[in-house]
Amino acid sequence: MISKETIFEALKNVLDPEIKKSLVELNMIKDVEILGQDVIVNVTLTTMGCPLKDKIKKDIISEIKKVEEVENVEVVYGEMTKEQKQEMIQKLQGKGERKNPFANTRVIAVGSGKGGVGKSTVTANLAVAMSSLGYKVGLIDADILGYSIPQIMGINKERPTIIEEGVIMPIEKKGVKVISMGNLIEKNDALIWRGPILGQILTQFIYDVYWGELDYMLIDLPPGTGDVPLSLMQSLPKAEILIVTTPQITAASVAKRLGFMAAKTNNKITGVVENMSYFICNNCSEKHFIFGEGEGEKLSSELGAAYLGDIPLMTSIREGSDKGNILAGDINTEIGKIYNKIAKKLEHLG
Ligand SMILES: Nc1ncnc2c1ncn2[C@@H]1O[C@H](COP(=O)(O)OP(=O)(O)O)[C@@H](O)[C@H]1O
Ligand SMILES: [Mg+2]
Repeated sequence: MISKETIFEALKNVLDPEIKKSLVELNMIKDVEILGQDVIVNVTLTTMGCPLKDKIKKDIISEIKKVEEVENVEVVYGEMTKEQKQEMIQKLQGKGERKNPFANTRVIAVGSGKGGVGKSTVTANLAVAMSSLGYKVGLIDADILGYSIPQIMGINKERPTIIEEGVIMPIEKKGVKVISMGNLIEKNDALIWRGPILGQILTQFIYDVYWGELDYMLIDLPPGTGDVPLSLMQSLPKAEILIVTTPQITAASVAKRLGFMAAKTNNKITGVVENMSYFICNNCSEKHFIFGEGEGEKLSSELGAAYLGDIPLMTSIREGSDKGNILAGDINTEIGKIYNKIAKKLEHLG
């Protein structure tokens, strides 16, 4: 005879595709009926419109069919009540006071002295490279007004699932969990927002997104050292700062401002990456230092930070960004090798 217990045991192996916890643990299995060798599973979804309904059904059927004697499996859907949803959210986020979702996470805020240095490109590539080292990685696009992460990561058209006010599921791409304003609003809607609202949105990105346990959280800061990056950093006291610079920017011109920001927010500047360092043309394999050499290293020593390496100007990097195809996770590509080295240096600084 098939028992309910064995069926529930089997259902423990079925994870909610987004929350990545078992349906049993999430109280999503309302009931199991056993009629001879047929099993009927009643599942309660957060919403009937759940886009992952079919996947959940398939997974349930395949797990229960593994149970001896089972012939047919039927899945019946229901919807959670408001109270049930609330209960699930509390379970997910922990009861009582808002806990710090990054208590066991290395938070790396990526900043720059000025815009256009390739900060977002470097952040996205580094996130993918860290993930390919086997870490659980998140990425917050904190550049609300000038978001570009969705484009670079190739998730422009995706929308995060909002389970309930206060629980947003990040979008996953190449092993990285991402949240960006670009996935939440239509283009240009953000342009009218000012400081306080930007701050609220960033707080929501930290607390209202269901991040789960992460090893690394990379934050693409808004460019510069203005109020918005400053107050965000103040809300993340244990965060480290990683600076992206280019050889055209003289170290002296940005070191002061960046150092001032770090001192004011009490964050440590961990490292410096120099982007667009040199160009390798197709005809010769020589490195051409178009903008000069050594500014990144100079900046790192002025800030007392580690120098993590340089990234050349490469057409494939620009194309990868434009097409939303990040190559940094593939160790067989030149870009992959470069980022792998930088990721490993960052890993060892922790
Ligand atoms: N190493 C690189 N080689 C070639 N193009 C790059 C490189 N890094 C960035 N880019 C390109 O430079 C432009 C600006 O990069 P972006 O990451 O948006 O800068 P930021 O976030 O600092 O404003 C983008 O078109 C991007 O594809
Ligand atoms: Mg940017």
